[in-house]
Amino acid sequence: MQDFAAALQEFLDFSPGDRTGVRVFYAPGRVNLIGEHLDYNGGLVLPAALSLGVWLFTRQRAGGLSRFASRGFPGVFESSVADVGVSVPGQFANYPKGVCKVMGAAGRGVPPAADFYYVGSLPSGAGLASSAAVEVVTAVALNALWGEPFSMLELVRMAQEAENAFVGVQSGIMDQFAVGLGREGHAILLDTRSLGYQYVAAPLRGQRLVITHSGVERQLAGSKYNERREECQRALAEIRTFAPEVACLADCDGEGFVQGLGDLTLRKRLRHVVAENRRVSSAVQALGSEDLERFGRLMSDSHRSLRDDYEVTGPALDALVEAAWDVPGCLGSRMTGAGFGGCTVSLVREEAAQDFERLVAERYRQSTGLEPRFYVSSIAAGARELTHEMM
Ligand code: GLA
Repeated sequence: MQDFAAALQEFLDFSPGDRTGVRVFYAPGRVNLIGEHLDYNGGLVLPAALSLGVWLFTRQRAGGLSRFASRGFPGVFESSVADVGVSVPGQFANYPKGVCKVMGAAGRGVPPAADFYYVGSLPSGAGLASSAAVEVVTAVALNALWGEPFSMLELVRMAQEAENAFVGVQSGIMDQFAVGLGREGHAILLDTRSLGYQYVAAPLRGQRLVITHSGVERQLAGSKYNERREECQRALAEIRTFAPEVACLADCDGEGFVQGLGDLTLRKRLRHVVAENRRVSSAVQALGSEDLERFGRLMSDSHRSLRDDYEVTGPALDALVEAAWDVPGCLGSRMTGAGFGGCTVSLVREEAAQDFERLVAERYRQSTGLEPRFYVSSIAAGARELTHEMM
């Protein structure tokens, strides 16, 4: 709460005046429990919203200019609500500006101008969807200032479009979906082809989810993320030459599909997609029967597949996961998010949690010279307004 008061004061310094008209919104980050790199392949994913996230302080302002600032990044950025313009490489304001642009183009008139100030407890570049949190919290806030013309699902889709079209990362919908529609104590089983979803109770009785940052920042734009996506599109196009009825790569379950691909790399990518999709279904069954040991094994299998077939882990994430696998009481561990740096998620018995941090840190330091950071988080609710609770 002390931090909230400080953050509010920072907002009032940025947007001078008393508290009149100030509204506060919040969006969580997400951890993906299993189902990695499937959301742009029409597969199943199982993310959960975190209790770490981003606050947005906002108030409408006169005229046609919106202003954006953040505790985490220097500078104040302005943009006209009628014409947001183009993204500027490396600027944090691309995320909210992209959302304003997409919402402005959605045919409901010109959005209101406002001051936006962001304060986050999520590390950026960690694979915990900090950018989706900024996008979705902006969308939810702008929607509220505007009189709520859009549903949460529409906001989620527009947030994804902002990331694809304005920021330039061809991400799927998983992050924005989990950030927008997360529910306390539940993971979301999302079918990314139909966008059908159901909440799956995640009773971690006696276990903890430990999120560990590898200390290596992950950059999506310009990383291998778009390359993987493009490889999957090529694989699908090739499969369609002999199986035109196929709608997405996640459906290509069967040796015939693998054999039909000429390129060895594309075969490996397909192998991951199909096996990972099966693992998600098994993981949901395991959660349903509270078989967390099985759930943990599936997490670890997912990591191996991302390492060997999808090739998105890298030495740091591999070392971190291997260190976790060696600790008694760790039921499973894997990279989470896009990979190429960022975080791992591990399922650890409660009584082993303290030793886990110490032992993983020691081993990881020894093998890489890097310092891991541990985050404690529970599974929390999705994006929402907090004005009445906080002000
Ligand atoms: C990033 C993207 C998501 C998803 C994951 C990998 O987090 O934003 O859409 O593709 O990578 O599963």
